[in-house]
Amino acid sequence: MSIKLSDKAEARLKEKIALYPDPKSAAMWALYIAQEELGRLDDRAVEWTAERLNLSPVNVQELITFYTMYHKEQLGKYHVQICRTLSCAVRGSTKLTECVRKRFGTKPGQPSADGMWSYEEVECLGSCGTAPMCQINDHFFENLTPQKLTEILDRIEKEKPDLKLSTIDDRMGEGLKGYPKSQII
Ligand code: FES
Repeated sequence: MSIKLSDKAEARLKEKIALYPDPKSAAMWALYIAQEELGRLDDRAVEWTAERLNLSPVNVQELITFYTMYHKEQLGKYHVQICRTLSCAVRGSTKLTECVRKRFGTKPGQPSADGMWSYEEVECLGSCGTAPMCQINDHFFENLTPQKLTEILDRIEKEKPDLKLSTIDDRMGEGLKGYPKSQII
């Protein structure tokens, strides 16, 4: 039986498909929409995307495994991606990774016991001039030190901001108070 997402998600995908001459071009949007709706890109998401866009499931899997913003496993409510590429590495990104590893007590890609956190190291996020940096859900935090990152994580724990780029409503999340989407600290 074919997979159906919420009416809102289905309508959103239709809008995106209409933007392109070939429905396949909406594949990245479809994956964002499915991930936001289902929490991860599991077999249902692959089937839904492939069916709606007339793609083969293996093509959908290729996209999911290539881009770090897509994930197949359930992550924490807040997922911290720490850039480990050259500019960030020479400016101390390993200390940031060590900081979150100790704090969350998990391995990369594993949610913490309370489901609040997960982390992983990723390649360049395109913000090399403000290294070292990380992305938490869909928001950048830049010019970090372990102490600054700790303060940010403390505030997220307290304020529980919406750090999601909503593909369903076309709006950014509320952000962390005092931190616009991309803030040079
Ligand atoms: S090297 Fe870290 S953002 Fe480019």
